[in-house]
Amino acid sequence: TRTPVGIVGGGPAGLVLSHLLHRAGVPSVVVDSRSREEISTTVRAGILEHGTVQLLLDSGVYSDGASRRVLEEGYEHEGVELAFGGRRHRVDFHDLVAASVWLYPQTEVFADLAHARERDGGDVRFGVQDARVVDLEGDQPRILYRDAEGLEHEVLPDFLVGADGSRSACRRAVPEGQGQNTGREYPFAWFGFLTDAPASAPELVYSHSPHGFALVSQRTDTVQRMYFQCDPDEDVTAWSEDRIWEEMRRRTAVNGLELKTGPVRDAAVLRFRSFVHAPLRHGRMLLAGDAAHTVPPTGAKGLNLAVADVRVLAPALADAVLRDDTTGLDTYSERALERVWKAQHFSYWMTTMLHTLPGSAPFDVRRQEAELATLAASRAGQTLLAEGYTGWPGSQV
Ligand code: DHB
Repeated sequence: TRTPVGIVGGGPAGLVLSHLLHRAGVPSVVVDSRSREEISTTVRAGILEHGTVQLLLDSGVYSDGASRRVLEEGYEHEGVELAFGGRRHRVDFHDLVAASVWLYPQTEVFADLAHARERDGGDVRFGVQDARVVDLEGDQPRILYRDAEGLEHEVLPDFLVGADGSRSACRRAVPEGQGQNTGREYPFAWFGFLTDAPASAPELVYSHSPHGFALVSQRTDTVQRMYFQCDPDEDVTAWSEDRIWEEMRRRTAVNGLELKTGPVRDAAVLRFRSFVHAPLRHGRMLLAGDAAHTVPPTGAKGLNLAVADVRVLAPALADAVLRDDTTGLDTYSERALERVWKAQHFSYWMTTMLHTLPGSAPFDVRRQEAELATLAASRAGQTLLAEGYTGWPGSQV
């Protein structure tokens, strides 16, 4: 198949890109080794910046008159709570920066995008096998894969986009010495789970405690999402429901929160990493989303950052394909990385402010409480947090 744009990865990054290109009059082919079912049932984060919601609405994802699901099934949150040192403090996004975020799971974003691509006749090939990218050096990159019957297929794109997540095959195909990787590991992870219970608080609660961090998030009126800091090698099977709730209570009760509990499901350990690969362009290949960068989950920037990349990349690709003008592609990496690094800093800041380092001294815990108290006492400090959490304004970055 010949196509102007070949996209490896049919998650939110790849599908938003394919959708935006379609709206600009540029066809594309998307391939993903996962099935549509697999992507839509893998539990991911649930917070959308207001700019991400706006893009879904403005770009016609819901243009078939179907309900604008993100507005109808999502929940607008005008703030978050920080819990620390035995108290709870609300950061009021609406008051501070006149913005809000939306609680709407990434799996639903994916479902809406997959539906929109199908409705608009998009060429999205889920469940392909052994996808590879070759000939990145020349003028004709190729995507190779096998279908379910084992037949070889070839996609010949003018431009190739790697939107294939943190273990990106596209990024790994960059020749040695042509890209730079930088990042850091963290000595903790999150134990995440869903529970069938009513909400414990009106908004998300980020709880710092001497016993470690916990996050009380939500999904619906009857399903909640929660996380607690754990060892990266934690064994999920070692955690009974009782033990999970005991640990969650220990880390939230100290700050005055009373948890509503229920049956636990979908428990998993999420590893933390900060990572950036640069530049985001290698000849005719562009990288977007987790394929190029990973943030630790605190603050839920991952999906939002992928959408921000694609918001810059789509018009640049359209100019290159429709007008033979590659000036946008030439500056894509630099423009997208500006926001990527802001988000790297924000996610690192939220992470290190709220988590307890294994073996940390009482000094470290008290210093963190003082940092949170300083923030809670300062409109300027809270404004900085609110700007980052809701997504920095600006059309390009
Ligand atoms: C969720 C995940 C996050 O990483 C976060 O900061 C807030 C919410 C969630 O899955 O609901």
